[in-house]
Amino acid sequence: MLLAIETSCDETSAAVVDHGRVLATVVSSQIRLHAEYGGVVPELAAREHLKNLPPVTRTALKQAGTEPGALDAVAATRGPGLPSALLAGLKTAQAIAYALRKPFYGIHHHEAHLYSPWISNQPPMADFSEFQPNVSLVVSGGHTLLVHVESELKHRVLGSTVDDAAGECFDKIAKFIGLPYPGGPHLEKLAEGGNPNAFDFPRPMLKENNDNFSFSGLKTSVRYFLNNNPGLLDDLPRTRDLCASVQAAIVETLVAKTIRAALRLRVNCVTASGGVTCNRTFRSQLAMACHKHGLTLRLAQKELCTDNAAMIAILAERKILHGELPTPLDAEIIPGWPL
Ligand code: KG4
Ligand code: ZN
Repeated sequence: MLLAIETSCDETSAAVVDHGRVLATVVSSQIRLHAEYGGVVPELAAREHLKNLPPVTRTALKQAGTEPGALDAVAATRGPGLPSALLAGLKTAQAIAYALRKPFYGIHHHEAHLYSPWISNQPPMADFSEFQPNVSLVVSGGHTLLVHVESELKHRVLGSTVDDAAGECFDKIAKFIGLPYPGGPHLEKLAEGGNPNAFDFPRPMLKENNDNFSFSGLKTSVRYFLNNNPGLLDDLPRTRDLCASVQAAIVETLVAKTIRAALRLRVNCVTASGGVTCNRTFRSQLAMACHKHGLTLRLAQKELCTDNAAMIAILAERKILHGELPTPLDAEIIPGWPL
């Protein structure tokens, strides 16, 4: 049985897994705290993590019906992420491992996202029996990464965003519209019933022959568009059209580049994870595109799309299973850890 802790950004999370079975996942979100600042304030995040870690960890153990003494290993996110936030979770997990005299595993946050789509069912259970090489899109507020997962625990980054992440683009455009932070889910809601073809926004880097993304041009183009159309936001149907058109531009870019990479690399499977994977239009468009091209699709379950310790725990278990050695107990955080 393994306990994992995740504190790379603004969610304090602890999870307990046992042979692929997720016995408990507890996530305490700080979104409300940061909303009034319009983004995550690192110092505040770290302080909240320190406050939340003991109750979140205790609740996870209780929900799993276990006790610290029954744990075989402890894991935590080592990077990438906000330094002070990472520090809170990593040092807590190392202290628990030290006290219990159990091995500790420092996990790469994005590597964990790559495997979160293999956790399915209710209650959640990781099933790697159907694992196949895949192209994996990790799309969140901080990252937009396209990765070739060649085999279990072996991957190669194909491309990433050269400026804003897709979630960041959703959030910044939502802010122009006056929606609360983080704006992605609010923009999605407003896009319902809107016409995705009403306004023609750029599909950035769609024509370029690489696997990188760029979303700052789209954001700028929406800002100019709003400057040139004062009063549009007073008209609800046109605001809905605007949101649907923005969503369509982001989703079409993500889907087209993911499918193109999968076909080029001749993999049979596509996976997606990260906060933006909660978006229903993205889920359905990617599903349709995969179906059209005969690709198997594995989308992370909605509750596992955003940051959570279950994915950290599952990856740590896979690493143990594959014979990887523990991380030293004095290992430091790696805020800019490349994938
Ligand atoms: O993975 P996540 O919780 O945290 C990181 O940023 O690492 O992702 C949060 C991001 C935010 O930018 C949020 O606006 C976006 O995911 N997001 C969405 C939706 N739900 C969350 N974007 C569009 N549509 C959604 N339904
Ligand atoms: Zn994440």
